[in-house]
Amino acid sequence: MRVLGIETSCDETGIAIIDEKKGLMSHQLYSQVKLHADYGGVVPELASRDHVRKIVPLIKRALQEADCSKEDIDGIAYTQGPGLVGALLVGSSVGRSLAYAWGIPALGVHHMEGHLLAPMLDEPAPAFPFIALLVSGGHSMMVKVDGIGQYEVLGESVDDAAGEAFDKTAKLLGLDYPGGPLLAKLAEKGEAGHYRFPRPMTDRPGLDFSFSGLKTFAANTIRSSDGSEQTKANIALAFQEAVVDTLAIKCKRALKQTGLKRLVIAGGVSANKQLREELEKAMQKLGGKVFYPRLEFCTDNGAMIAYAGLQRLKAGQKDELSAKAKPRWSLDSLPAV
Ligand code: KG4
Ligand code: ZN
Repeated sequence: MRVLGIETSCDETGIAIIDEKKGLMSHQLYSQVKLHADYGGVVPELASRDHVRKIVPLIKRALQEADCSKEDIDGIAYTQGPGLVGALLVGSSVGRSLAYAWGIPALGVHHMEGHLLAPMLDEPAPAFPFIALLVSGGHSMMVKVDGIGQYEVLGESVDDAAGEAFDKTAKLLGLDYPGGPLLAKLAEKGEAGHYRFPRPMTDRPGLDFSFSGLKTFAANTIRSSDGSEQTKANIALAFQEAVVDTLAIKCKRALKQTGLKRLVIAGGVSANKQLREELEKAMQKLGGKVFYPRLEFCTDNGAMIAYAGLQRLKAGQKDELSAKAKPRWSLDSLPAV
């Protein structure tokens, strides 16, 4: 089976073609980052319009790159939610229209399931069951994964997502949008030991997160500092250490609670080098293993949607023609495969 995957939940148009036997045959990505940078964040209406402009040319390019024609495609997977409704509608309308025209099934994929399964695109793929830490710009979740569609959310953020906290703190430090990777870069120049940020919600049991306090702590720290470049780098480092430490504490707790030894991290923040290093160290100590997607598949992309869609379409799942976009959609409501 060969599947065309479409991702348009936020500010990236991602298209990919995956084959059950050959694996990933092509993937195309157009990032709208420059379009939104002037506004300091994603402008939903502009995002939708840009997806409309880019989606069909990218699908054509993906077909070319994979050296296949529409007759070679057996199903279409598109991101059905969660995300920005206008942006989701572009991918779901184009995906379902193409599937109707080509006489093949279409299926809506949960964006976070796409992130969660992204490490499966490479070897070695994690075997079930495992714990997944999903850390993106919109969500932070700890999930027990027993199989595809067998998800138990053990904890999630009660306020800002981890990526959102990175972006907001980066903004306070005068960095462009999206600031997560830029803050991480600035932190590399930071000296440790000048500042210490709190590790929110680690002093009580449970696996929920809270990151909005870190942003406030950052604002106060910046305000009372000398504002020099070195100081900003020191603050960036201290902030990053706090987020990484907090996530690592919660991962260890989730592994202990479930008795599992495999950890998957996925979503945009899983690209963070310090987070990867810290979790590698922790898993080595525990005699376990950490898995993450290749860098380009940590942030939004079409390949992860094509992969998740393939697993479900292969099992015979498909949408009705009247399927709706789902801006809000809980991960643990998905059917098992
Ligand atoms: O998964 P993603 O592409 O989009 C959502 O589904 O939300 O995640 C984007 C988020 C942004 O907040 C971005 O700043 C953050 O991931 N991010 C990072 C890094 N790379 C991306 N945060 C920290 N360190 C990074 N290296
Ligand atoms: Zn995402």
